[in-house]
Amino acid sequence: MSKREFFAELAADLAALLADERDLIANAANTAALLFARLDQVNWAGFYFRRGEQLVLGPFQGKPACVRIALGRGVCGTAALRRQTLVVPNVHEFPGHIACDAASNSEVVVPILHGERVLGVLDLDSPVRGRFDAADGQGLERIVAEFCRATDLDYV
Ligand code: SME
Repeated sequence: MSKREFFAELAADLAALLADERDLIANAANTAALLFARLDQVNWAGFYFRRGEQLVLGPFQGKPACVRIALGRGVCGTAALRRQTLVVPNVHEFPGHIACDAASNSEVVVPILHGERVLGVLDLDSPVRGRFDAADGQGLERIVAEFCRATDLDYV
């Protein structure tokens, strides 16, 4: 199965999982749990939501993580500031990378956008270098789009 097919199936499963609920916390928690259960070689999957000029930790699966990240800092803050998906094959070469779990070696971060506003990011970490590629970035953008479609984002 190609990554494109894998993420198409995962997005359909996410749509079914979130179908009867619009609550932000519940849907973010179930999205993180689905990603963590279904993606191989992932040691952290979860959300940060924007609070002013910072990102604040949201629902996730994995080890406890840093709670506040300034916009523009680390992989998450950079993706949020640039409003761009970032695929980082080796986090140790990313200037300003924030190490939450020492096991993490690669990372992908997808911004959550509502028009021009950045509401937060979806972040996945892997212990395997080069675990994520552009197809994962695009697939996770599809997952974020489904999450946004299914969720009441008004109080982010
Ligand atoms: N590594 C991230 C911080 C968040 S944790 O990976 C969960 C970063 O550099 O933004």
